[in-house]
Amino acid sequence: TAGLLVDRHGRVARSLRVSLTDKCNLRCTYCMPAEGLPWVAGPQLLDDDEVVRLIRVAVRRLGVTDVRFTGGEPLIRPGLVGIIAAVAAMTPRPGISLTTNGIGLDRLAPALHAAGLDRVNVSLDTLDRERFVQLSRRDRLDAVLTGLTGAVQAGLAPIKINTVLMRGINDDEAPALLRFALDNHYQLRFIEQMPLDAQHGWDRSTMVTADEILTALRSAYVLEPDPAHRGAAPAETWLVDGGPARVGVIATVTRPFCGDCDRTRLTADGQVRNCLFATTESDLREALRAGADDDEVARRWRAAMWGKRAGHGIDDPTFLQPDRSMSAIGG
Ligand code: GTP
Ligand code: 5AD
Ligand code: SF4
Repeated sequence: TAGLLVDRHGRVARSLRVSLTDKCNLRCTYCMPAEGLPWVAGPQLLDDDEVVRLIRVAVRRLGVTDVRFTGGEPLIRPGLVGIIAAVAAMTPRPGISLTTNGIGLDRLAPALHAAGLDRVNVSLDTLDRERFVQLSRRDRLDAVLTGLTGAVQAGLAPIKINTVLMRGINDDEAPALLRFALDNHYQLRFIEQMPLDAQHGWDRSTMVTADEILTALRSAYVLEPDPAHRGAAPAETWLVDGGPARVGVIATVTRPFCGDCDRTRLTADGQVRNCLFATTESDLREALRAGADDDEVARRWRAAMWGKRAGHGIDDPTFLQPDRSMSAIGG
């Protein structure tokens, strides 16, 4: 199987994360400044046909088995439903998932489900309206909660919720968020804040760590290690009060999981990134537009993955944050 996306450290990328836009309707402080960012210019964005073509190359020639759509906020991409339908028609049919802030999900969930979306992960950092405004600079908590219930009604359950805790802002809310998730049958995962904010304001000392999160949860719940095989998942999970409910922690910084990474990424402007923290990219958009055939695209994609570093390097004294922020990479 010479065709797979392998790297020099022996990992195989089976999972593709596709960012469909760098824009977003929230302004979470750990991601973007209040004024937004210089967005990718229209002509540099892949159009729907280009996105679908690159995914087809990944699925048919490179062994990708799962495709996740991200942003920015993917629900604001006009062609989203059509792109999902086109991917669902591929053979072999990949798993199709979406990571969203949930705004508008109630309206879109039926069409997304009908088009072939299998799973959705929704970001929610607080259940308190004022805190939501403080964290995201928009008064949209109700829209997110409505989006969540709409997704359940449309048949997209079980749903995962992603939460970033910020010291002094929402770090006292871990048990309450878990209560909310358990009551509604969502699987909650806490994410350690990563140095991927556009403002380059990340500071290790203000990051809420996995250990702190687990200690806070154990004040209210019994957690035991999850016997299920973790595989390449970013989240380490625990059984809550004997299970079957679970809670997860994505501890990029304090418990890195790069050794098992199975991910490759495509940005909205057609760049392959071999890691969330990569400092170089490979331009498939210009290759496509210069007339490259599928073989050539596949060859370039493989070359881009071969050079993937063993780890993210956050702990190295020479660590440099990537130029793009989370919102332009897709998480
Ligand atoms: P599942 O398939 O449901 O497990 O999805 P996921 O957790 O892989 O995807 P999601 O988009 O919900 O991401 C949750 C968090 O994990 C986000 O903050 C991502 O940035 C982070 N994440 C996803 N993949 C990676 C990765 O390869 N490395 C690191 N460090 N973080 C990642
Ligand atoms: N560190 C950790 N998680 C982040 N997210 C966005 N920016 C960061 C960051 N700097 C989260 C979002 C969303 C998920 C896809 O990534 O809150 O839940
Ligand atoms: Fe994979 Fe890079 Fe994430 Fe590590 S930081 S798990 S190598 S994408």
